[in-house]
Amino acid sequence: MPTAMTASTANEGLEGIVVAQTTLSDVDGEAGRLVVRGRRIEELAGRVPFEEMARLLWEGLAPLAGQPADSSAAPSATDLARALGLARTAAYARVAPLLAAAAALPAIAALRLGLASLRPGTAAGAASPPDHLLATAAVPVFASAFARHRRGLPPLPPDPTLGHAADLLRMLRGEPASAAEVSALDAYLVTVAEHGMNASTFTARVVASTRAGVLPAVIAALCALEGPLHGGAPGPVLDMLDALAGPEDAGAWIAAELAAGRRLMGFGHRIYRVRDPRADVLKEQVAGLRQGAAAGIAHPRGTTRPGDDARPAPPPGEDAGAAMPGSLGARDPGSRLALAERVEREALAALATLRPGRRLDTNVEFYTAVLLDALRIDRDLFTSIFAAGRVAGWTAHVFEQERTSRLIRPQSEYVGPRPTPTPT
Ligand code: ACO
Repeated sequence: MPTAMTASTANEGLEGIVVAQTTLSDVDGEAGRLVVRGRRIEELAGRVPFEEMARLLWEGLAPLAGQPADSSAAPSATDLARALGLARTAAYARVAPLLAAAAALPAIAALRLGLASLRPGTAAGAASPPDHLLATAAVPVFASAFARHRRGLPPLPPDPTLGHAADLLRMLRGEPASAAEVSALDAYLVTVAEHGMNASTFTARVVASTRAGVLPAVIAALCALEGPLHGGAPGPVLDMLDALAGPEDAGAWIAAELAAGRRLMGFGHRIYRVRDPRADVLKEQVAGLRQGAAAGIAHPRGTTRPGDDARPAPPPGEDAGAAMPGSLGARDPGSRLALAERVEREALAALATLRPGRRLDTNVEFYTAVLLDALRIDRDLFTSIFAAGRVAGWTAHVFEQERTSRLIRPQSEYVGPRPTPTPT
């Protein structure tokens, strides 16, 4: 039976509570700055491939596969790319028996099913990749295989010679992506790989603190990522753009949403009091894709590995360049970007009026939606693609947390009924 609530001493959102020391990233909400391992995100996104970002995150924390055990040399991104490629192949060995069960599930739940099948030491082959590598490799493998199966297409085995981003797009589409597209996805994966003590990372650390291990921590993190206040936001951002007949509708639509008490997806942040720096990084990538599409050229800042934009023949029964039913088609990044910019302007103005004392600015998810859509990725996969990047950060945090060996166990304030005193 509920009792009347008294003044609470609880800090339900844990605002301002420091739960860990980390060497991984610094999110400066006042300056709008994200630093990962000493480097600003703008120095990394679009400049290094995802493999290098993962190497940076795991360095000094996790054993990096792809090297002889007795090697003392620091592993390179190339070593890691090779190891990740092999780990994708190991994860793919789990795909076939899961297809039927995964088909009945939403994309993110199917992804968790896949990861749950990766019990430590059960990947194909005697020498399983370490769990952090396996989890990182497995996310794009399961996400793309299950997405294709849901659409009646056969899953595609990984190509371990490709870069992680290139292989993700190839496994999803059934045909190699252009260098510009690979570069844009690489930049996205790097951009979202690590971001302080966000909800999913905290979840991973809570699970890690119980000594459950890497894979359970990643699965739990996926659960936290799914919600629309966190990594579930970009799908609804795209729904918002789709709901508008044109840019001129944006103002009225936004006003109606706010009047109905709904939040605008892709805006606001717990830490940032200014614009999320990742929003501009991703916007730049959309603009690059648009220019690349218009000029029919590869992305100027090539981050692909040799062979990433090779175009082998499609598998038997596949139509190279064919759209996945209900998903692919010519999306014009230019018109989407123009619409998004208008929506962003209207949303920022409306939010400033609604909350004059609390600056609500654009967050990473707004341009995530535009970018992933321009890459012809279905919106039901957006959160899984986010996970494909963030899993590198989660696993690095798991290793950090395991080093502290301290169980995370906060307290609650009991406001329920008290037991009736026993008559004496
Ligand atoms: N639209 C409308 N109102 C908003 C929005 C928004 N996008 N964001 C915050 N507000 C309102 C809140 O409802 C709150 O009102 P209240 O005081 O009446 O309860 C007020 O502004 C202040 O909110 P904050 O304390 O600044 O926000 P909080 O830290 O609680 O939440 C969050 C941050 C969850 C991201 C929120 O801004 C939100 O829901 N945004 C929309 C969803 C979204 O874009 N999520 C992705 C975040 S990025 C990421 O996780 C990768």
